[in-house]
Amino acid sequence: MTNQPTQQWGSRLGVILAVAGSAVGLGNFLRFPGNAAENGGGAFMIPYFLALLIVGIPIGWAEWAIGRYGGRKGFHSAPGILGIWCKGPIGRYAGVLGVLIPLGVYFYYVLIESWCLYYFWKYCTGGIGLEPATDVASVQVPHTRGFFNEVVGAADNGALFHTMHPVLVAFCLTVVCNVWFVYRGLSKGIETVCKYAMPVMAVLGIVILIRVLTLSAPAGTTGQTVVDGLGYLWNPNFEKLSNFKTWVAATGQIFFSLSVGFGVIINYASYMKKKDDVVLSGLTASATNEFFEVVLGGLITVTASVVFVGVLLTSQATGGSMSLGFKTLPMVFAQMPGGNFFGAAFFLILFLAAITSSLSMLQPSKAFFEEALGIDKVKSTTLVTVWGLIGNAFVLYYSKGLTALDTIDFWVGSVFIMVVAAVQIIAFGWIFGLERGIAEAHQGSQLRIPKFFQFVIKYVSPAYLIVIMIGFCLNNAPGYVDTLLGNVTTSPQLSVVSQRDLAAAFPAGSKLTYTWKQLGGEPVTLADAATAKPSFATKEPANAKNFEVPFELTVSDGATTKTFPAKAEVDVESPGSARRTWVFLLLTIAGLVAITAVGARRWKAEGRDLDGKLPAAD
Ligand code: ALA
Repeated sequence: MTNQPTQQWGSRLGVILAVAGSAVGLGNFLRFPGNAAENGGGAFMIPYFLALLIVGIPIGWAEWAIGRYGGRKGFHSAPGILGIWCKGPIGRYAGVLGVLIPLGVYFYYVLIESWCLYYFWKYCTGGIGLEPATDVASVQVPHTRGFFNEVVGAADNGALFHTMHPVLVAFCLTVVCNVWFVYRGLSKGIETVCKYAMPVMAVLGIVILIRVLTLSAPAGTTGQTVVDGLGYLWNPNFEKLSNFKTWVAATGQIFFSLSVGFGVIINYASYMKKKDDVVLSGLTASATNEFFEVVLGGLITVTASVVFVGVLLTSQATGGSMSLGFKTLPMVFAQMPGGNFFGAAFFLILFLAAITSSLSMLQPSKAFFEEALGIDKVKSTTLVTVWGLIGNAFVLYYSKGLTALDTIDFWVGSVFIMVVAAVQIIAFGWIFGLERGIAEAHQGSQLRIPKFFQFVIKYVSPAYLIVIMIGFCLNNAPGYVDTLLGNVTTSPQLSVVSQRDLAAAFPAGSKLTYTWKQLGGEPVTLADAATAKPSFATKEPANAKNFEVPFELTVSDGATTKTFPAKAEVDVESPGSARRTWVFLLLTIAGLVAITAVGARRWKAEGRDLDGKLPAAD
């Protein structure tokens, strides 16, 4: 056994808030609006809610039940618990991904968290992009984009360390906060933070939402209103439903956002007692997450962006999860009355949302180290801190074009999550047995899992996941192999025509359409000319440098047509960094596998039921 006394949650509400805190994060405020706007707006909600119903909630329930049962058997880590549920080493080693995912996502997530803290501090001390804006978009776009690029060191690998940018101070503070609260333990650390942070986030979020919904268009712009903003995000584009990418994006969003398949809930639930209700708790945590995601995340960012900077610029920012929050919204706050207050409030929400999630990413590794290596909480916290810092340093260093961050996010934060979710639902419905699994989930629960969901858990969820995973591979594998082989695929950022130029050329309230035409340079594929989202592919130049491609933008309101000069700034991503990130991830996996092997020997020597083959104790 470990040297650690078993930890427990302080209260039932505490564990629900902790799981909801893990779920509500940057995914809700940054990833969701970008994903929805990019993939069909209102139409995106069809695959989104379908994924919530047939994989998010059912696999979430399974994960809660799996975790609580594993906890009763004395295990708190995914390798230990999945070893029991899958009756052997295959589950145990698949469980390694349940430690890798939270740890790997933490490698980059905590950096984004520190950007939020840094932006919050900037708004408390004067704001961003406040120079007099005669030409709102064209002056401030480069400014907020340049500001962001400096904060993340996008220009070159190691850029942050050359300039010793003050964001490194925010990073150190963020890491110290995370380590301190995780060291304090479940009840005194994680639960306490979530108990205060969740209500603060809800209140601040509602205040910002009311402000956004009562905004009026600033003078000298094309007069886009809140209704235009809502329409931009929510008007359905059903054509997108015929594209498999939309279904994959919606399913990925559900998993990332609910923290299902992450290795977090399995660990959190392992500290619950047999009579604690997992069915209602799971549903409450999911419902809380959906409120923050669809209501606050879905109504605030895109709406404010459209009102202040227009559809054109907003469409540039969606897709990548960072642009809207860190480049476009600062332009909004710079023009909004009381913008510094709202900017500070917004980035405070993001920081709180992020810290309640990042704490949940450290806890599973800490528990794993304790039970596999038999070490105490000081040693396990030290180990997880050092391992986390090595990962952070790697992502901080390979900052050019954010390649390391994107690579880990893609593989660990999207692909591996689906694998763990699949292992869990198969373990629950097929290996452990559906009836036994449901009986386990129903222990102490006030709510029964409806028969319909039992059918979904057994057949529909695994089948749906398999189809999505195959589609995901077909969609992404060729591009990824290409990148690793040395070809570059990237999305250029287009310089835009200012709102004032558009306002001068077209009457207020015009419905404008946009068409892009390339004038020269490397060929650029326009993925969606109407929303100005080109993509770009080329062989990595020998001396990869960022460059510009001239464009022409034609804008029309049906009656008048005007052409404006524009250019695309291409940030060349480095396949070298992608390859190095892969080596780093493989080393991390090898380390976790080795620790699992050590743990298995220890558990066997202790006579524990590590393969779930001994008669159940209850
Ligand atoms: N579930 C967390 C988020 O949405 C990781 O950011």
